[in-house]
Amino acid sequence: MSKKKIIIEPDPILRQKSIYLEKVDDEIRCLLDDMLETMYSAPGIGLAAVQIGILKRLVVIDVSKEKDKKNPLLLINPEIISKSKSTSIHEEGCLSLPGYFAEIERPAECYVKYIGYNGKKKEIKASGLLSTCIQHEIDHLDGVLFIDYLSKLKRDMILKKLVKQKKELNKIVL
Ligand code: NI
Repeated sequence: MSKKKIIIEPDPILRQKSIYLEKVDDEIRCLLDDMLETMYSAPGIGLAAVQIGILKRLVVIDVSKEKDKKNPLLLINPEIISKSKSTSIHEEGCLSLPGYFAEIERPAECYVKYIGYNGKKKEIKASGLLSTCIQHEIDHLDGVLFIDYLSKLKRDMILKKLVKQKKELNKIVL
């Protein structure tokens, strides 16, 4: 396992659609392991492959509250089959938008089909934080970020600040 660099918005790759995987092999499993390590060390509760620059439909999630009890969920080709009409609001952040949070309203429950680490078809009914997290991560696979749900004014303000932060960061690195 190795930790990967997380891509920060604005970056055009974060706006691209990720591709479906045809098969699950050791290369994919290795990638999922790397994603998990990257997410835990960030730390974060969810990460999509595009955030480490790989346009494949892979997601890792761990919403367990106790730090010493890991409960990773690895999703290959996740797809939302149905969503509840009822909604819930969670404060969301994103490893690609460090330091920014906003309350986002999403369907409270969702039913998701995916392929698991062992290559087998699986389904999960998600509610609460897990439902929000899965929807947030699947959005990443379609080039959507949580700030897209905000008003243009708020979104532009965050983007402007991120551009400035990136410039400062580059100065230090160079
Ligand atoms: Ni995110």
